Amino acid sequence: MKLELRSPVNERAGIHIPDEIANLNMPFNGSVCSEEGDEYPVKNNIIDLLGEEPEFTTLANYSNHWKLTASLYEDIWRKRSLSMLSGEDFPIEKEHELLIEWTAPKAGGKYLDIGCSTALYARALKAARKEANIVALDFSFQMLEEARLKAEADETDLVFLRADGRDLPFFSKTFDGLVMGGTLNELSEELKVLYEARRVIKQDGTFFMMHLIKSDAWYGRLLQESVGLGGIKFWTVKESNKLFEQAGFKVSQQLVRGIVCFTKLVPN
Ligand SMILES: C[S@@+](CC[C@H](N)C(=O)[O-])C[C@H]1O[C@@H](n2cnc3c(N)ncnc32)[C@H](O)[C@@H]1O
Repeated sequence: MKLELRSPVNERAGIHIPDEIANLNMPFNGSVCSEEGDEYPVKNNIIDLLGEEPEFTTLANYSNHWKLTASLYEDIWRKRSLSMLSGEDFPIEKEHELLIEWTAPKAGGKYLDIGCSTALYARALKAARKEANIVALDFSFQMLEEARLKAEADETDLVFLRADGRDLPFFSKTFDGLVMGGTLNELSEELKVLYEARRVIKQDGTFFMMHLIKSDAWYGRLLQESVGLGGIKFWTVKESNKLFEQAGFKVSQQLVRGIVCFTKLVPN
């Protein structure tokens, strides 16, 4: 894949990513370097642009950096959560179908999974379109390590990148598609991430998102207010759409089931 990152310290300098980094059968350790000479470590195929741990402002973000959360997250919570939150039988396969239908990944296209955790969406995109180039990004090294294990087991080639969604290390209009599953609610600065998403998506690109909305029921709201103390935020559909519009997107498709909302955004 011809993937180039943008240096975090020099907005004009590119960092070339060798194709072998995505081949998870071959451990890749070493570094990548920008045209200006700034260098970043690659540990077991994971490119680390951040170095030190970011400052945590919420408990939700802090807990994503624990190994235990990373190892239990997908099987214990993620694969069952939509049935609980939507109030209907909602297996992960149904979510994947929607992801693939709305994203329609194309051969040779470039796709970015923002706040990927264990890279559920990135792996599903790659499984649906082997010839697509997929980057899975998170700021938690623990999540990326777990994602790498799962992708290697699935024989899925992905580029893993430790970076911050508030400062995406890509040039403008790099991606044919962006995907983000459940991450919006956990972001400490959601507008910054959405502005960055708008910058790196191509004009004809698509942005698939699964996000949780405010509950209509009083007991649901009470519960949401208590998890809000840990840094998880909820908006109504109207408020969410206003946020997307503010960042320069318009809603192309939307499906609400219980407090689960799937949104397909396109650049405005
Ligand atoms: C709810 S989980 C995402 C789940 C995953 N997308 C899925 O579909 O299973 C949120 C993830 O976003 C990451 N995250 C939160 N804020 C971030 C930021 N500013 N930059 C990068 N990753 C971030 C967390 O580390 C965590 O792994």
